[in-house]
Amino acid sequence: MAQSAASASQGEGYLVTENLVKHFDDVAAVDEVSLSIRKGEIFALLGSSGCGKSTLLRMLAGFETPSSGRILLGGQDVVGMPPYVRPVNMMFQSYALFPHLSIWENVAFGLKREGLPKAEVQQRTDDMLNLVQLGAYAKRKPHQLSGGQQQRVALARSLAKRPKLLLLDEPLGALDKKLREQTQFELVNIIEKVGVTCVMVTHDQEEAMTMANRIAVMSKGRVLQVGSPEEVYEYPCNRFVADFIGHANLFDGKLSVDEVDRCAVATAIGEIHVGHGVSGALDMPVAVAIRPEKIGISKQRPAHVDHNLFQGRVKEIAYFGSYNTYIVQTLDGRKIKVTEANTDRHDLSDITWEDEVFFWWRNNSGVVLRD
Ligand SMILES: Nc1ncnc2c1ncn2[C@@H]1O[C@H](COP(=O)(O)OP(=O)(O)O)[C@@H](O)[C@H]1O
Ligand SMILES: [Mg+2]
Repeated sequence: MAQSAASASQGEGYLVTENLVKHFDDVAAVDEVSLSIRKGEIFALLGSSGCGKSTLLRMLAGFETPSSGRILLGGQDVVGMPPYVRPVNMMFQSYALFPHLSIWENVAFGLKREGLPKAEVQQRTDDMLNLVQLGAYAKRKPHQLSGGQQQRVALARSLAKRPKLLLLDEPLGALDKKLREQTQFELVNIIEKVGVTCVMVTHDQEEAMTMANRIAVMSKGRVLQVGSPEEVYEYPCNRFVADFIGHANLFDGKLSVDEVDRCAVATAIGEIHVGHGVSGALDMPVAVAIRPEKIGISKQRPAHVDHNLFQGRVKEIAYFGSYNTYIVQTLDGRKIKVTEANTDRHDLSDITWEDEVFFWWRNNSGVVLRD
């Protein structure tokens, strides 16, 4: 969670970066990044455009030289090692298959260039095409395959050389949404079957959540938080992460109670109770983050709820098929987002525009953020 970014360089990582920095002129595109990635892990670098993901990946590949810091792969410092010597393969967003070569030749290309014996080239290429379930397409040209299939050829080509580290830069960026979702699972299955350690870059939080074992959330060259998809979603370390991963309602306030296993925050809508301690100073400014799906909503006052219960007026409703979203305006004028799953299609909500509603959540649904 919050502390794992700082302590990442300890422990037995297979790929370790220590205080890695890359300056372009006087801008730090990558700023003091320390990560520890386990063998066989699928690790995502997640952040918006320009935050330094590709630069970090390119340093791992050897296409950029760090301004300072170390990169250890299997205990060996690889900084200064040219890309082709590193046991690393990078698959680019535009995966650039050779258009005039068959699928089989595309996958075999790198192996032949390495000068492997003919029989081994044959065996490995066949194995890789079978692995990505394209054995039957070996003789086709890239343009005769769908985008998703081409993606799998590119992956087969990257894996054929048996890299110890596979780097994927926005691997599904060229595919449309539906195909992307399907291909996400296919890629994960293949990568897990091979067991290769993988660092992938994406700006798409759903993609990171679906594919990765752990995620590093980046902003402005820095890693803000490292954790499993569940950890970064349930326990974001600060406002940026809370808001970047999914949506969070943020309530600013001051810490009013702080015990080992609970605390309270005085906010403009009232006191909010939270099911964890903060070990902070009373009256310190903090925010409470609540996910929209953790908020209950009803026109009737709920029975047995005696705190974290507030009132407001419904200003907007949107139906997204599997869930409804309500924008509720509180008495002090701020807007809260609430989502409600459509579990039963006969159970249409009776809430409509301008209704006065109650909304509430459980103590352990909130997270206190210090910054
Ligand atoms: N070769 C370069 N020369 C100068 N600036 C660069 C170069 N490559 C990247 N940058 C800058 O570094 C920052 C991070 O870029 P990049 O790593 O590509 O971000 P991301 O992949 O997260 O979108 C950006 O501000 C970008 O403009
Ligand atoms: Mg990029």
